[in-house]
Amino acid sequence: MNAKPSSLTQNVVPGVDWVGAIHWNRRLFDGLIPLPDGTSYNSYLIRGEKTALIDAVDPEMTGLLLANLESLKVNHLDYVISQHAEQDHSGGLAEVLERYPEAVVLGSPRCRDLLIDFGLATADRISPVADGQVLPLGGKTLQFISAPWVHWPDTIFTYLKEDRVLFPCDFLGSHLASSDLYASQDAYQPAKRYYAEIMMPFRTSIQKHLARIDGLEVEIIAPSHGPLYDRPRLILDAYRDWSSDQVKNEVVLPYVSMHGSTEAMVQHLVSAMIDRGISVKPFDLTRTDLGSLAMALVDAATIVLGCSTVLTGPHPAVAHAAFLANALRPKARFASVIGSYGWGGKMVQDLAALIPNLKVELLDPVVIRGYPRPEDRRSLDRLADLILEKHRNIGIA
Ligand code: FEO
Repeated sequence: MNAKPSSLTQNVVPGVDWVGAIHWNRRLFDGLIPLPDGTSYNSYLIRGEKTALIDAVDPEMTGLLLANLESLKVNHLDYVISQHAEQDHSGGLAEVLERYPEAVVLGSPRCRDLLIDFGLATADRISPVADGQVLPLGGKTLQFISAPWVHWPDTIFTYLKEDRVLFPCDFLGSHLASSDLYASQDAYQPAKRYYAEIMMPFRTSIQKHLARIDGLEVEIIAPSHGPLYDRPRLILDAYRDWSSDQVKNEVVLPYVSMHGSTEAMVQHLVSAMIDRGISVKPFDLTRTDLGSLAMALVDAATIVLGCSTVLTGPHPAVAHAAFLANALRPKARFASVIGSYGWGGKMVQDLAALIPNLKVELLDPVVIRGYPRPEDRRSLDRLADLILEKHRNIGIA
């Protein structure tokens, strides 16, 4: 027997209720992203004379969404606003449309096409909306804002004029399961982790969207993941900082050592950089949570890859970290490689070929045969000197 899920709704402002789902024990997203704090799929019910639902949760949680709507005695839905077609916000759409056959889906034209491709709605149920389009519900007025590339091309934000609530979909969200409706300072780290993993590749779009939000009066930010913000500056200022071109006097050093040689080099370079007043974040990739590494990449001026040699190329875990950094497009300005080999190889060329998206100046690598000798340690000291000089030249050290 399938137990009926326990409903949970929370009132945001009069006429607006959170009707989403908290996924307390989810630990992986996209088969890639660790979720140490779980997540939520936020849906919102807006009731004027007409009724609109914003987003339709992950498919695993559809029963909960429907139970929430039933608990609020929602017998009729005029609109389902699909802000983004990705299944964690649209997975329940087909069942919602079945339960509410009168409802019309509103979304961007790109979202419409994706929803059809994903088999979540048919064309006759979807009405595309344009940037700036206004939807009067009677007592509540919604405006749609086209917001592509945070993080898909189909995203729209929804702005509720009377209550000054902005629903920015994935943007400004966090993977954080919380019983608190609103974010506290504790939400900063999960929000930064989420930014690093999902939003960082889109800094240019983010800067444009932040400028657009500046033109709105916003009292509450209600994203589609994680807690809401009743102090919007908490998250808006953080995004301005993270997405700015400003880097910090920090070095991120992901590495793998097979037999201790690269480890000895990493330890020496870490100490040399600390001696020079540079913050260092080393990550042993055999035990690193990739989300922590992504977070460290948000601010760092320099990335140094510490690499052992497997056969003739880089250790696959370091190649994976380089591939990931290339995809996330952090704003680092400098990069280098240190590492060790036994009988030769082309580790540096292979790693450099993996990071074409990074707009970095490559600093001379320190790659040695075997265990580091005194002259190798001096080479690492010179690399630390060079990093400090580069950081000073851009005014951060
Ligand atoms: Fe939370 Fe892009 O879906």
